Amino acid sequence: MKCSVSVRSYHCILSLVFHLIFNAALLEAGTVDKDVTVKPGRNPIQIHMNYTAARDLKDFADKVHATLIEWYPRLADELSLPPSTPIKHLSITFDPGFERVAILTGNKIVGGVKYYRTHQDDVGSMIYTLIRYIQDYKNGPDWLAQGIADYLRFYIFEPHHLLDMPSPKDKYTDGYRVTAYFLNYLVNKFNMKQDIVYWLNKHCREGTYNHTIWVAVLDETVDELWADMMTSLAPIIDIDYSAAPDLKSLARNINSTLTSFYPTVVNTLKTANFVPRKYFKIIFDGKYDGVAHFNGNQIVGGVRYYRTHQDDIGSMVYMMIRLIQDYKNGPRWLAQGIADYWRFYHYEDSRKPKPSVPGRHSKYTDGFQVAAYLLHYLERKYGKIFLDKLNQACREGNYSDDIWPKLFGGKTIDNLWNEMMKYDSGSGNNRFTYKRHITSHQQRTSFKIDYFSTSLN
Ligand SMILES: *[C@@H]1O[C@H](CO)[C@@H](O)[C@H](O)[C@H]1NC(C)=O
Ligand SMILES: *[C@@H]1O[C@H](CO)[C@@H](O)[C@H](O)[C@H]1NC(C)=O
Ligand SMILES: *[C@@H]1O[C@H](CO)[C@@H](O)[C@H](O)[C@H]1NC(C)=O
Ligand SMILES: *[C@@H]1O[C@H](CO)[C@@H](O)[C@H](O)[C@H]1NC(C)=O
Repeated sequence: MKCSVSVRSYHCILSLVFHLIFNAALLEAGTVDKDVTVKPGRNPIQIHMNYTAARDLKDFADKVHATLIEWYPRLADELSLPPSTPIKHLSITFDPGFERVAILTGNKIVGGVKYYRTHQDDVGSMIYTLIRYIQDYKNGPDWLAQGIADYLRFYIFEPHHLLDMPSPKDKYTDGYRVTAYFLNYLVNKFNMKQDIVYWLNKHCREGTYNHTIWVAVLDETVDELWADMMTSLAPIIDIDYSAAPDLKSLARNINSTLTSFYPTVVNTLKTANFVPRKYFKIIFDGKYDGVAHFNGNQIVGGVRYYRTHQDDIGSMVYMMIRLIQDYKNGPRWLAQGIADYWRFYHYEDSRKPKPSVPGRHSKYTDGFQVAAYLLHYLERKYGKIFLDKLNQACREGNYSDDIWPKLFGGKTIDNLWNEMMKYDSGSGNNRFTYKRHITSHQQRTSFKIDYFSTSLN
């Protein structure tokens, strides 16, 4: 075929052929702006979208096409593709038989119809496959190619998408987002010195990658760099139990539990440009009669209480969540409810009773487990997104009661509370069965001990 002679003739031939044969079912990439594709030093690409098997994906296919064409030169620059590269041809086919997201083989991307039908905002995954196509690495491990691709995707294409901080069970060889997070950390840490991503990419492209590259560029092995990062991300938990040396093993349990749960809390409460607190000072106080309270970065625990409740690490988890929240505004009941929501529904295991249905005389403004119960009801009924929005509003100081109607189709917080109370007192439609496992006595006891004293904070 003489298609590569000029963009225009290529466009015409393809359009004609495809219109005749496929009756315009196949969207041809010749719609590409000629200026973009032939500008010297830019990297031209032709992308053919094939959604014959799922015509309802036309709008999405158009969006993918436009976005990939627009981003190709920028990404190719990032990956230092030589400017003289001839026009590249990529085809993207949506296949109903493909059960996963997207896969690249040669110069063909197959996207899963089932996946994209329900994820029509996910152009990012197509950008990822485009980057993998551009990479065309001669050597280097897969996790690194994945990590570089996700690094470009999440820190350049979708910088609003905040990646999770790796947890202690992750490793840089996990690839994808974990490796991307690691690369971004290194870029920020060493950017005055060397751009590690540039060198890794260059060696993989040229087929000269080996593990000594990390040392050559950053003076440390990749394992050392990873360990440095994990140490710098881990919380520092300083526990003073000198008032009660017998609490030594409790202190050790608190230390290891808070350390391992810390990344989860930071990730669930993350917002853009927010640096979470990582130093926590815990003091056991023999003169304090309650459970625990906090102030600044300090948590005070009552010796008397913890001596007899050495399994109640959850109350310290609650305290750590409150410290990480660091909210600029918002009502206290909500901060308490969010903390107890994460504590009870995501930290505590099944042995710990969940919050029970609030009684007739309680209200969401009681905070703690009552508010947590409401948030859990809303999450089950409406999905989790609102939790991020509430957290963000409180964190950034933008909370006001108007946020509820905005998040819940006009319903105020009082409407939502009444809705929940109605729903949960009608026995027939009550799906939250776990609360039946708790006796009211257990509930009262745990509620009182855990909470009325913690509320002193
Ligand atoms: C487009 O995809 C369908 C399968 O979904 C396939 O049968 C057809 O050959 C493809 N067309 C082109 C030009 O690749
Ligand atoms: C690793 O790569 C560097 C740079 O390309 C090269 O100088 C070195 O000889 C390689 N080492 C091994 C063990 O392959
Ligand atoms: C907490 O654990 C870390 C390591 O996991 C350790 O370095 C630190 O000394 C411990 N702190 C206390 C108070 O036990
Ligand atoms: C939230 O408040 C900050 C100032 O604290 C402001 O810059 C930001 O635009 C606000 N965001 C929204 C969504 O109102």
